[in-house]
Amino acid sequence: MAAKMHLAQFLVHGPTYHSLAMWRHPKTAAAGYDWSRPALYQHIARVCERGLFDMVFFADLNYISDTYRHSLEPALRYAAQAPEHDPIPLLSYMAAATRHIGVASTFSVSQHHPFYAARLWATLDHLTEGRAGWNVVTSINHNQDANFGVDRPPTDVRYDRAHEFIEVCRKLWSSWEPDAVVMDREAAVFADAAKVHRIEHAGPFFRSRGPLNVVRSPQDGPAILQAGTSPKGVDFAAKYADAIFAIQPRPEDAKRYFDGIKGRMAELGRAPGECRILFGAQPILGASEAEARERQDEHNSLVPLEGGMAILSAHADYDLSKIDLDAPMADRTEPELQRLKTRFRKPSGESMSLREVAQRHGQSVGLPQFVGTVKSVADQMEAFLETAGGDGFMLSPIHSPGAIEEFVDLVVPELQRRGLMRTRYEGRTLRDLLRQEG
Ligand SMILES: Cc1cc2nc3c(=O)[nH]c(=O)nc-3n(C[C@H](O)[C@H](O)[C@H](O)COP(=O)(O)O)c2cc1C
Repeated sequence: MAAKMHLAQFLVHGPTYHSLAMWRHPKTAAAGYDWSRPALYQHIARVCERGLFDMVFFADLNYISDTYRHSLEPALRYAAQAPEHDPIPLLSYMAAATRHIGVASTFSVSQHHPFYAARLWATLDHLTEGRAGWNVVTSINHNQDANFGVDRPPTDVRYDRAHEFIEVCRKLWSSWEPDAVVMDREAAVFADAAKVHRIEHAGPFFRSRGPLNVVRSPQDGPAILQAGTSPKGVDFAAKYADAIFAIQPRPEDAKRYFDGIKGRMAELGRAPGECRILFGAQPILGASEAEARERQDEHNSLVPLEGGMAILSAHADYDLSKIDLDAPMADRTEPELQRLKTRFRKPSGESMSLREVAQRHGQSVGLPQFVGTVKSVADQMEAFLETAGGDGFMLSPIHSPGAIEEFVDLVVPELQRRGLMRTRYEGRTLRDLLRQEG
């Protein structure tokens, strides 16, 4: 039996997701849902649950970038990942409209104390009845640190801090034993104090006494998600994550990434199914191949190059206006660009120019576009996973609403016909869904 794909829906609480064309796309404009109105998000959650997705997933940033040309103007003009409203309040709102699907969001560990994060995520895990997922990020841009008034440590130190952060959270999440709440009304005993423990954590970055003032949550804290590519990022994911979101445009690079994570997991004694690797993809459907290509052209032509430069500069935290637009990117040596280097090659392996990389970054932030009829998009998804060995996809629409509904109603049944997708939910929690094999 072929392995079943795990699908998640990528979202941002803002006007653009991965596509800079999204807010201007005629179908977004015609749909009548506004990105800033809450009804859209309950609608999306219901649609994705109809499609038996594992989760809806929010990226999140806490800044408007001025990295490109030291100006806020390009980000604001093109809605280049700005504005972004806080997604956390949406999670319980979306969970209230659904029963099974996981609701996950990014939350950075670089600016807060672990006690605050542990309490927030345990509470969300209760409110969603075990469907909460936390994408643990260390953040990418100096503007975020500046907004919180903190100094930006180097990547390695950020990950050392992140390891300790999550360890403190784990201690706090298990500071209440599962049967600590007694609720014996007659004897006047709410909780058994012998089963609620201080953690007395004292490490290089954090101190916390505990216990948490939230009772043990359905998943013992949320499911943990991660997205990182450096050796320390991979180590973090292999150790703690239940799922990883990865952007690897070329299946060969995706395979290298996949093997690296699963290899490290094996060294740490974890089974491969304990952490799913979801590769980002942007489906573009048409009734015929020609119509799908037309839709792709229409979408891609709505992306301004300057907007792509603004996002790419923000993600690298490096002002790319210093580089010639026609310069090849694959062999650049700037340290800031190394993290993104698998996004600098064409499918053939040839280097892309800065212009090409920035244009694609504005279209999809490097996600491959799967373009065609329902059958051919399903073929492309299947072929990608066959080469890459991935567990599934993080799907990103070109317009919203509309594109997600189309995928769920047309492609999901095709994947189910091929035996490549679940036909019902099994289990209760987001972690159960991520572990589900059949
Ligand atoms: C696919 C992907 C998605 C990410 N999404 C976010 C995000 O939504 N918010 C954020 O602050 N950082 C995000 N990051 C940044 C990572 O959390 C991490 O800080 C960054 O990639 C640096 O770590 P690395 O060198 O291990 O890749 C993302 C990274 C990747 C690769």
